[in-house]
Amino acid sequence: MSTLFSPVTLRGLTARNRLWVAPMCQYSATDGVPQEWHHTHLAQFASGGAGVVMAEATAVSPAARISPEDTGLWTDAQRDAWAPIAAAIRARGALAGVQLAHAGRKASTWSPFSGRRGSVGIDEGGWPTLAPSAMAFDGFAEPVALDIAGIDATVRDFAAAARRAVDAGFQVIEIHAAHGYLLHQFLSPLSNQREDEYGGPLENRARLLLRIVDAVRDAAPDVVLFVRFSASDWAPGGWSIEETTTVAGWASEHGADLFDISSGGLVAHQSIVPGPGYQVGFASAVRQGAGVPVSAVGLITGAVQAERLIAEGQADAVMAGREWLRDPHFALRAASELGVEIDYWPKQYLRARPA
Ligand SMILES: Cc1cc2nc3c(=O)[nH]c(=O)nc-3n(C[C@H](O)[C@H](O)[C@H](O)COP(=O)(O)O)c2cc1C
Repeated sequence: MSTLFSPVTLRGLTARNRLWVAPMCQYSATDGVPQEWHHTHLAQFASGGAGVVMAEATAVSPAARISPEDTGLWTDAQRDAWAPIAAAIRARGALAGVQLAHAGRKASTWSPFSGRRGSVGIDEGGWPTLAPSAMAFDGFAEPVALDIAGIDATVRDFAAAARRAVDAGFQVIEIHAAHGYLLHQFLSPLSNQREDEYGGPLENRARLLLRIVDAVRDAAPDVVLFVRFSASDWAPGGWSIEETTTVAGWASEHGADLFDISSGGLVAHQSIVPGPGYQVGFASAVRQGAGVPVSAVGLITGAVQAERLIAEGQADAVMAGREWLRDPHFALRAASELGVEIDYWPKQYLRARPA
């Protein structure tokens, strides 16, 4: 019996397996509106057998975008463009998810394939960036420190985006608190030097995230709610696996259902040596330490590797990114490699199923 291909139920909703698609920015939206590219890109993974397809970091406000080409959910037009995409994912048997994000001090940057690097100038379509403290990410424009009214507005933006996500037909929402974006900037002492109730001790640095978990839960009571953390800044004095575990426990009490454990992205001087499954130990530590469901992500590229880490109880699910880009039918192939019978090969593709 495969554990990777066993279903998993969270808040009453069942994913058909535990091999999921990680959120991946496409930098291909217009005014935050997803395009035909997004539709084809995301639907193909559902045809390919994914249990959950998580749409990319989607901005909760214009200032929240990493780049001008990010998708958004701050307008009804964006919601209406997402609806057929979520429907296509669901029609192919996967759960439709979207990651809600605010880039904070890493907003207003050139997309990777624009040929430019760093911050987009205000005169070139960029915008002033926001952060817990007026401390720039290496080489980027200096952000403005959010005041309390700005923090309150950010909470409202996440709640409104969550409502639109549900109205668009998404069944899973992931709050992006990783990779050096706004919520991670609040969590880490390296980027949060506030002296009010949002800075200093851990409960203060976690306050914004927990307020957002509450607000999203209120706005979308039935949605399955994930939180993505970076479990380590990989830098001295930074955010740690111990703090991640504590805050995951708190967020679970506030209504989050699963924790997607990544790492890094906060500071340019991080020291990471990536290798196969290099973040799985973090996921496992959060799972054990906080007693919460987790997904593992990061260089998980093979069926046997994924099967083993679920079977060993290191994680409840696997999120993969680049392997799905190499093979949008990763789950169909993985099931074949593991000799697992699944009943969701698209009938149109049955002639390709290995005998
Ligand atoms: C093209 C691309 C875009 C990405 N965009 C996002 C994103 O929108 N949100 C996020 O949390 N991580 C993003 N990531 C990170 C992935 O979700 C994943 O954590 C990372 O690629 C490691 O997994 P992998 O080794 O299976 O690719 C992106 C990665 C890639 C390759």
